[in-house]
Amino acid sequence: MEQKLRTIAEEALQAANTAESLEQLNDIRVKYLGKKGSLTQVLRGMGSLSAEERPRIGQVANEVRAQIEAALNEKVSAVKEKEKQIRIRAERIDITLPGRPVTLGKKHPLTAVTEEIQNIFLGLGFNIAEGPEIEHDYYNFEALNLPKDHPARDMQDTFFITDEVLLRTHTSPVQVHTMEKTAPNLPVKIIAPGKVYRRDDDATHSPMFHQVEGLAIDRKITFSDLKGVLQIFAEEMFGEKTKTRFRPSYFPFTEPSAEVDISCVMCAGRGCRVCSHTGWLEVLGSGMVHPRVLEMSGYNSEEVTGFAFGMGVERIAMLKYGIDDLRLLFDNDLRFLEQF
Ligand code: PHE
Repeated sequence: MEQKLRTIAEEALQAANTAESLEQLNDIRVKYLGKKGSLTQVLRGMGSLSAEERPRIGQVANEVRAQIEAALNEKVSAVKEKEKQIRIRAERIDITLPGRPVTLGKKHPLTAVTEEIQNIFLGLGFNIAEGPEIEHDYYNFEALNLPKDHPARDMQDTFFITDEVLLRTHTSPVQVHTMEKTAPNLPVKIIAPGKVYRRDDDATHSPMFHQVEGLAIDRKITFSDLKGVLQIFAEEMFGEKTKTRFRPSYFPFTEPSAEVDISCVMCAGRGCRVCSHTGWLEVLGSGMVHPRVLEMSGYNSEEVTGFAFGMGVERIAMLKYGIDDLRLLFDNDLRFLEQF
């Protein structure tokens, strides 16, 4: 009987030793120590032993049980520890890896500049108006005192869709739409931002670009109102030291007309490459609304006067940010756009 017990012990220890999972170890525990296990079965035969033999075999049985239990417990801890190590290795993260940057979107410089221009004029009491990009010849030219055979039409190389329909070459037709809608009410004070189209394509011209139109009509509007408004605009847009200069010019829809220059944003007027050593930068066209334009859109030019101006948003953005090629604004290259 003792021999049987020792054999069970040997077998059980060997099995425990080669077991690799908790499941296997549990099976071994049931097989040898369980209610129907081999140890129990052997012990059932104790009854047939003599009185002297019984305590000794009992002791051997206890030893064997303890031995097997100890071996199983030890192995269970070992297997658990091993599984833990495997799990830790699997879950390990490398905290030295660089993080994935969260990239934030932002406004395109043209959008940012357009909004800045709008905010300046909203602060001066102007409202925002809009008009179509596909226009009738009448709004783009005729109602702006540019009849069909007018030579000044050449100033704006036009994309025609039909003889009478075209892509607007400037935002000035919004002046006409606004006056038609508002006349004879006063005052009119609007700016009109939007896309315009001309057959032009080089480092400083693009077939599509953006303008902001301005129009103010009321009794007793004078040229000094125009000067004051544009001086404030220049200071707010380019800094309070910015000076403005009005040069006589010609537009069919304004009389008198003026090109407006600002003191160079690069050299503050001393003269540099950007301003071609003149100290001045041309930024917009302007003038007093031509009486004929007022009349055509329903205003009495004996009673009211007005001023108008139009500026190129790309040009303003290029000057403000020191961009030397207009096409950069349309390439959508993130290396460029991320700088703003
Ligand atoms: N529409 C003119 C242009 O595109 C600019 C302008 C607007 C001039 C209003 C005078 C008054 O060149």
